[in-house]
Amino acid sequence: MIDKLEALRSRIASALAGVKNLHELEALEVAELGRKSEFMLSLKGLGELPPEQRRSAGQKANEIKSGLEAAFADKRQALQEASAGALAETEWIDTTVPGMPPPAGHLHLTTQAIDEITEIFSRIGFYRVRHPEVDWDWYAFESLNMPPDHPARDEWETFFIDAPPHPRLGRMVLTPHTSSGQVREMERRPLPIRMIGISKCYRRQMDVSHVPMFHQFEGLLIDKGISVTHLKGVLDYFARTYFGPDRKTRLRPFHFRFTEPSFEVDISCGICHGTGRLEAGVKCRLCKDGWLELGGAGMIHPNVLTAGKIDPEQWGGFAFGWGVERTMMMKAGLQIPDIREVYKSDFRFLRQF
Ligand code: FA5
Repeated sequence: MIDKLEALRSRIASALAGVKNLHELEALEVAELGRKSEFMLSLKGLGELPPEQRRSAGQKANEIKSGLEAAFADKRQALQEASAGALAETEWIDTTVPGMPPPAGHLHLTTQAIDEITEIFSRIGFYRVRHPEVDWDWYAFESLNMPPDHPARDEWETFFIDAPPHPRLGRMVLTPHTSSGQVREMERRPLPIRMIGISKCYRRQMDVSHVPMFHQFEGLLIDKGISVTHLKGVLDYFARTYFGPDRKTRLRPFHFRFTEPSFEVDISCGICHGTGRLEAGVKCRLCKDGWLELGGAGMIHPNVLTAGKIDPEQWGGFAFGWGVERTMMMKAGLQIPDIREVYKSDFRFLRQF
């Protein structure tokens, strides 16, 4: 009986040596050491041996069996290690290669301009504020020295809200300019004031240089001993920083009801450098006379300070209000021929910025 087990052992051992993968190993193990294998059936014959032989034969048979089991376990480990090694060769990845970032959008060009304008003014102490974009007539017009029915209001082509008027503050409007924040700011802050208010504005207008919804930035400075020189200094600082070091501003007399004196602010043209002519003596097509119009400005009217409960005998200041979109369109390198492009949501256009 032991001879038979020894013969089976050497047959199984040589078959094991020829096994090339885990699949073959499984099959061999079931065939040779499974419950119905010749080896296992032979072990059952132990019980039929006479008792004096059974003990030593049993010991020997166990040795053979555990020897074979150990040989199968060793083989399994060797095959597993070999296959893991092969996997490392064929399926390696370089974890140091930079990943592929998912497609991400970017800020709209108007938002980028608002951020830049805010940052430029913050460097000289102007803090950013926002005021309501739906507000009472009082803040949009009346407190700004434009009594009801005054013809100057027509210039602001206003959208009115269909709602009952306030007994003291009048009708409700979509703010046609950020100047509606002037008296609101005077009411909510202690003096001195040095604000830059940026909000949406709405007007019944639409053509190549007008959109019905646009943004303005409104500077308001109220302090003691403020003159036009301070206004000019702030405007020049902004023009140089935002547009480039060689740019200048020019104040042209104008009329606004809420500033006195009032000005239109022009900036020297970046194409012809303020000359109105190109090198060959040809007229500059962008500006025609060397200057581009930016927006309005002036020294705060005493009636506006009074509306904001500030004593005009003691305090004074200046204000200016420009369109964000128009200002950004004048920046060198931004070739935007039609303001309506900015809000068409056409990715082919927006992706450029
Ligand atoms: C005003 O709105 C005054 N509140 C500005 C001001 C503030 C004067 C403080 C004095 C003191 P105006 O209507 O000119 O002014 O508008 C100012 C700027 O807003 C324009 O120069 C232009 O850049 C921009 N703007 C006006 N209407 C539109 C529009 N429909 N679309 C795009 N930009 C516009």
